[in-house]
Amino acid sequence: MAKSILITGGAGFIGSHVVKFFIKNQPSVNIVNLDKLTYAGNLQNLVEVENNKNYTFVKGDICDENLVENLFEKYNFDSVIHLAAESHVDRSILNPMEFITTNVVGTVTLLNVAKKFWSDFSDKLFYHISTDEVYGSLENETDFFTETTSYDPRSPYSAAKASSDHFVRAYHNTFGLPVVISNCSNNYGPNQFPEKLIPLAINNIKKNNPIPVYGKGENIRDWLFVVDHARAIFDIFHKGVVGQTYNIGGDNEWKNIDLIKLLCKIMDEKLNRPKNTSEKLITFVTDRAGHDMRYAIDSSKLKSELNWKPSVYFEEGLEKTVDWYLNNEPWLENIVNGNYKNYYQDLYKNR
Ligand code: NAD
Ligand code: DAU
Repeated sequence: MAKSILITGGAGFIGSHVVKFFIKNQPSVNIVNLDKLTYAGNLQNLVEVENNKNYTFVKGDICDENLVENLFEKYNFDSVIHLAAESHVDRSILNPMEFITTNVVGTVTLLNVAKKFWSDFSDKLFYHISTDEVYGSLENETDFFTETTSYDPRSPYSAAKASSDHFVRAYHNTFGLPVVISNCSNNYGPNQFPEKLIPLAINNIKKNNPIPVYGKGENIRDWLFVVDHARAIFDIFHKGVVGQTYNIGGDNEWKNIDLIKLLCKIMDEKLNRPKNTSEKLITFVTDRAGHDMRYAIDSSKLKSELNWKPSVYFEEGLEKTVDWYLNNEPWLENIVNGNYKNYYQDLYKNR
């Protein structure tokens, strides 16, 4: 059983839930969270655990080889759970290079240091967290992504993630590094940065601002509550087979426009607004360049081999998420600052 884990990107949306899940469910383990605190990293996500004696936060860049080596030296990690990444597709269209730097060069930096320090690979694990977007875009309703679907990344974000997956597998094949990879569908829940569809729409509805729906709103995503993803990562970390890939999904496909209408209904109820008030904010805008049509994950391998399944129904999870954002106004307001507004100006200037 692992005793010292390096978690990268633990101040982000999913990473912070993973850190909290591990501390709650395996309190004896030592966790070091290495995070650069980019615009997406937020230590407010970790206040519940910041004073835990088995938890250490380090502000730093995964591309900084000296720093990563010093951390391996100091903490003698037996495992890495690697989540740090640039994660937003729209930003990757504005600035692909940052995605190559963090997602590719950063991942290879971590692989190199792990390879160097783990002279003996027994009881070691490099767990790489990836995305279903590496598989491309599904056109046919009956198709699903499985672990053997060929890679077909179509945005700079997914191309960078696909590249990092290839490097992780290459280090397993070439050097015998013990690795495992999981590819997950769209997450939602508390602490998600409000550039992503669900928290962006919650924030805009609250403020009576337009809800931008790309194209005709017909694109489909498979949504999973973030804590179910954290639990899948915990299960794969402990029970996954070295060298394997596991798909993680919610069995929960929604067209964007239907999801937004459901969210509008929930928000009207929560804000005591008359029925159909929020729907009037829906505004169709120019489509995302290269917008993938549909993602749908077949997670039967994870279910049958590791006995995992999603536990939160979407309507329940969405309501919990709305409650969290409405009850954590300071969290949201601290983020919705000048930088975020500038990013939005840049995004729409380029369309
Ligand atoms: P996020 O953008 O919320 O968080 C990313 C975190 O990484 C931030 O805390 C940021 O500060 C940190 N980071 C970025 N660059 C760094 C660097 N160079 N060095 C150290 N830290 C750095 O992302 P997320 O949505 O939580 O996604 C986490 C991981 O899960 C990513 O690898 C992403 O590709 C993957 N993923 C996300 C989803 C999703 O729906 N959000 C789904 C499947 C997979
Ligand atoms: O599938 C997993 C991926 O899900 C993760 O790897 C990514 O890190 C994560 O960002 C997410 O990517 P998407 O591009 O699917 O998520 P996003 O929330 O940006 O968009 C969801 C859908 O909503 C997509 O079809 C684009 C659309 N959209 C998005 C935004 C921000 C809109 O219609 N309007 C918007 O304002």
